[in-house]
Amino acid sequence: MPATVVVGAQWGDEGKGKVIDILASRADVVVRSQGGNNAGHTVESGGEVYKLHLIPSGILYPETLCLIGCGTVIDPKVLLEEIDGLRARGVTCENLRIDPRAQLIMPWHITLDAMKERSLGSGKIGTTGRGIGPCYMEKAERTGLRMGDLSRPDVLEKKLRSAGEAKNEMITRLYGQPPFDLDAVLEEYTEYGRRLAPMIADVSVLAWKAVQAKQDVLFEGAQGTLLDLDVGTYPYVTSSHPIAGGVCTGTGIGPTCIEKVIGVAKAYTTRVGEGPFPTELDGEMGDLLRDRGHEFGTTTGRPRRVGWFDAVILRHAVRVNGLTGLAVNKLDTLSGLGTLRVCTAYRRSDGALLEDFPASLEELAECEPVYEDLPGFEGDLSACRSAGELPAAAKAYIERIEALCGAPIVMVGVGPARSQSLER
Ligand code: IMP
Repeated sequence: MPATVVVGAQWGDEGKGKVIDILASRADVVVRSQGGNNAGHTVESGGEVYKLHLIPSGILYPETLCLIGCGTVIDPKVLLEEIDGLRARGVTCENLRIDPRAQLIMPWHITLDAMKERSLGSGKIGTTGRGIGPCYMEKAERTGLRMGDLSRPDVLEKKLRSAGEAKNEMITRLYGQPPFDLDAVLEEYTEYGRRLAPMIADVSVLAWKAVQAKQDVLFEGAQGTLLDLDVGTYPYVTSSHPIAGGVCTGTGIGPTCIEKVIGVAKAYTTRVGEGPFPTELDGEMGDLLRDRGHEFGTTTGRPRRVGWFDAVILRHAVRVNGLTGLAVNKLDTLSGLGTLRVCTAYRRSDGALLEDFPASLEELAECEPVYEDLPGFEGDLSACRSAGELPAAAKAYIERIEALCGAPIVMVGVGPARSQSLER
């Protein structure tokens, strides 16, 4: 396996964890390059279920180097809880390294996330409430604290007081909330720094060396293409770049290092949080799909919105990520639902047929999905162990969405276990 990127091709929660875990078992190095503990990867390994938020899935393999890059935002409290939880289950975290440039989520970012959502009322984004947006705002403002600051007490204190005082002003004056006790925050973060200092290392250098040495490097994406700050459904997006390009800036490597880009999608569509969702299903069919697919968030437990497969957003994902292959999960969930609908294009209110995903929410609001009906399939697909064993109509469904998306489907998922990922 050369240097491979795995990204979400829809709105996140596509089952990247499982695909990443399969590839991570063959990788020498696994890198996470954006987002923070807004993400949630569920990985099943050796009969155990692990829910990871920040730590790359390669952590389950003691020989695999796991890197958290400069484009991430780290809540050190959550990171340490995750490390402690893994250690308690016998997973050593000796192979984890974190870039000194990664931004630190501070307690005020979490408060500001909640306050901002509250002030938006019905126009809220539906964030995970983990302080992600405010942390990236502070980074762009160039006043953020970084992982490396944790190991320099004088720098930590100076930056923490300066950023904390400014954010306390905002929290008290704008939102009428009590200020943070900066002495207490300093004490807390000093302790985090003491524990995390041995793990801090230049991820750009480590990733580069691995690529140069022709090691197998896996870049694991979090969230999904349509949640990208630039090419997603802005403003209903996250504040980082979950697309393949984000791997370069978020790790500190160039695009020529990347050889393969795998997009992960579900055989239908889901989204959590607010924002447009052209193929969304309400009513009975939506409830059925949600229950069958156990569509509840890993990080927040929120019920996910569900809908038919949308080839327009997949073509967008193929283009903006330069996908070389697609993994399509949860085909088994569609079994027994009767006729299946696939969105092939959008019809705009002026009659125009759109093949490409519109750039603005206003234009998207003027669009209706154009559906093609495909024969459904029956039976328990979860027992299939090769793509050849799938029912004819399930094979035809995969072939049709492959043709509509314009990228080869290299893997089909029919259940959570590794043996239920059928390579094509
Ligand atoms: P934030 O990342 O917490 O700021 O949330 C912004 C938007 O991204 C919201 O709609 C969230 O529901 C969504 N989001 C963030 N992380 C994930 C994820 O890992 N899976 C799915 N949606 C996510």
